[in-house]
Amino acid sequence: MASPFEIMVTAIGGPEVLKSRSINMPLPAPNEVVLAHTAIGVNFVDIYLRAGQAHSHNPQPPFVPGINAVGNIMALGSQIQGLQIGQKVTYTNAGVGSYSTHVAVSAERLIPVPPDVDDVRVAAGLVRALTCQYLLKQMRQLNPGTRVLVHAAAGGVGQILVQWAKRLGLVVLATAGSDIKVQTALALGADFAINYRTQDFVSEVNQITQGQGVSVVFDSVGKDTFEGSLKCLEPKGLVVNFGTASGQVEGFALQELHSKSLWVCRPTLRTYIANRHDMLSMSAEAFEILCDPTIRLDIDTLLPLSQASEAHRLLESRTTQGAIVLIPDSLINPQE
Ligand SMILES: NC(=O)c1ccc[n+]([C@@H]2O[C@H](COP(=O)([O-])OP(=O)(O)OC[C@H]3O[C@@H](n4cnc5c(N)ncnc54)[C@H](OP(=O)(O)O)[C@@H]3O)[C@@H](O)[C@H]2O)c1
Repeated sequence: MASPFEIMVTAIGGPEVLKSRSINMPLPAPNEVVLAHTAIGVNFVDIYLRAGQAHSHNPQPPFVPGINAVGNIMALGSQIQGLQIGQKVTYTNAGVGSYSTHVAVSAERLIPVPPDVDDVRVAAGLVRALTCQYLLKQMRQLNPGTRVLVHAAAGGVGQILVQWAKRLGLVVLATAGSDIKVQTALALGADFAINYRTQDFVSEVNQITQGQGVSVVFDSVGKDTFEGSLKCLEPKGLVVNFGTASGQVEGFALQELHSKSLWVCRPTLRTYIANRHDMLSMSAEAFEILCDPTIRLDIDTLLPLSQASEAHRLLESRTTQGAIVLIPDSLINPQE
């Protein structure tokens, strides 16, 4: 068997602070299982935590990054019932770092993986689909015909958000950071797409909606877009700032909401999946999306786990479309 290892954030800093180190094979506590990972998700939050962007749950280095992975159960704790060796499961926000070949994880946080979806797609898509579930179904009643604006529409979350929103009959305006990404957003079903690096998205939205604005802006970019997002809203509209890829929103005056009775929310998936019942019911919907082969989720890059720093460089570079997934090196090259 290949030697277990994990990736550590050794200090707050750039991608170079990610270093690999050997570990002993984990042993399960009574309520845990040990997983041999097959595919590991790379999410933007991994970058925030590595770079020390203020977060409610910033761990101090050294720590193992990563919030989700897929794997096969290889050992069961003494109290575990209803799970089997060899079973495929996934998890997210389980209080363990997922950038590792093996992990001991609480059975409470495990989610069974349906048989008809591959591990890479689950690692790429589950967190993102869960996020889209609460954004579209739990924040505000969104009836067919409602206009929404999705920023970074060609990214990992953005791809699923656009397609799911179209399934709900919404009118989707999208932004993306290059002309190629704009074409991707349109191919995903967006009704309109704007290159927000070359066009003023506020005036474009104004023109497209004939001055009426949109009901909801799903804003994962944060600092660079937030002010503009507010300007795109119809009266009583909502900006959901669910990510801060360009930096955090600072110095926002509540009074800016006053003239059009606007709403702002800054949610996190962790709140929505904190209890097991909610996590499983949202996962069922997320898997309906992921198991549907007509839903496109691009795997931009597959990398060996030992090259996690390259994964971070790529995701930060703003050149990716879709998701990056890490694979334990021994599954790519069985000699290792
Ligand atoms: N709150 C939650 O519950 C939750 C859960 C999951 C994810 N998220 C958020 O959802 C967003 C998408 O996550 P993801 O992992 O799927 O990433 P992603 O969308 O694949 O990548 C981030 C994208 O953000 C855009 N971007 C704009 N300004 C940027 C900048 N200065 N630097 C880097 N990227 C910039 C880029 O797209 P363009 O080139 O098109 O601009 C980039 O590709 C992230 O903000 C993440 O934090 C939030």
